[in-house]
Amino acid sequence: IRNVNILAIESSCDETAASVVCNGREMLSNVISSQIDLHTLYGGVVPEIASRKHIEKINQVIEEALREAGMTLDNIDAIGVTYGPGLVGALLVGVAEAKAIAYAKNLPLVGVHHIEGHISANYIENKNLEPPFICLVVSGGHTHLVCVKDYGKYDIIGRTRDDAAGEAFDKVARAIGLGYPGGPKIDKLSKEGNPNAIPFPKAHMDDAPYDFSFSGLKSSVLNYINACEMKHVEYNRADIAASFQKAVIDVLVENTMKAVDRYDMNRFAIAGGVASNSSLRAAMEVACAERGVQFFHPSPILCTDNAAMIGAAAYYEYMAGTRHGLDLNAVPNLKL
Ligand code: KG4
Ligand code: ZN
Repeated sequence: IRNVNILAIESSCDETAASVVCNGREMLSNVISSQIDLHTLYGGVVPEIASRKHIEKINQVIEEALREAGMTLDNIDAIGVTYGPGLVGALLVGVAEAKAIAYAKNLPLVGVHHIEGHISANYIENKNLEPPFICLVVSGGHTHLVCVKDYGKYDIIGRTRDDAAGEAFDKVARAIGLGYPGGPKIDKLSKEGNPNAIPFPKAHMDDAPYDFSFSGLKSSVLNYINACEMKHVEYNRADIAASFQKAVIDVLVENTMKAVDRYDMNRFAIAGGVASNSSLRAAMEVACAERGVQFFHPSPILCTDNAAMIGAAAYYEYMAGTRHGLDLNAVPNLKL
């Protein structure tokens, strides 16, 4: 059978990315131009700046992805692009670019859901991973517990009621002066702290055992810091980071394993930016081992936003017959 090469484009937030993926599993290139340094100045992603930067970078990122793969557009079979969810102005840059190439080269266009992309990142390095499996998607914008029934077929088992896990990491990091993005910084600092120093609350909802809530935890960390400042007591940033991180991880592991048990699944995967957290990976590893469940996770570079994951997802959508027209639009709140 013929190889299917997909040129994939991702621009939903603050990474301009392009990649060539062969048959959904083989990453031939993975180019990521990060805008993090720009947004760090403002303590978070500024949508207007993100869009402008995507426009500046997207052509060279795509050219580099093709060059690295040793290809030209003539070797490409389809264009995959993230069309939601995300920042509308940022998404539009990738979508417009993808449509222009599809039109100019008369290539099929496949729109991809960003979360489907994150989940599919697992296919690239785990050649033996196939549905069905349970996947926990934890990123800056999403916290979803998903049952992947088949390629492109998802049941959402649980989700966050308020903040995403990554958002909580970013907000707590800002409160203790670590800067943006906070996840990797808390990950690092927490290794010097005591995770049992401060008993931060863990939210469990009796009526929805697979849902998450992190805003109460975040407020509790902010209150703790305020109380220390009022009393002029020095607080230990590493202890706060470690205790906060433990509260997040405990809930993520508990709810996820409840779902793994309930669905009687023997495969579990993790995805999204927070999935690169070293303590979370270690905790999931242990919980899965206890149950004899196989644990899958992408390398850190494929956990945070990238286009290879979009190429993997686009391949399975393409094989299932998904085609989008040149009227494809960015959908900021696209549902999975
Ligand atoms: O998947 P991603 O790149 O973008 C979204 O789709 O949201 O995720 C970014 C999020 C940020 O909130 C960042 O702080 C978090 O992932 N993150 C981490 C780590 N690395 C990135 N959170 C915890 N520990 C990490 N090592
Ligand atoms: Zn993402």
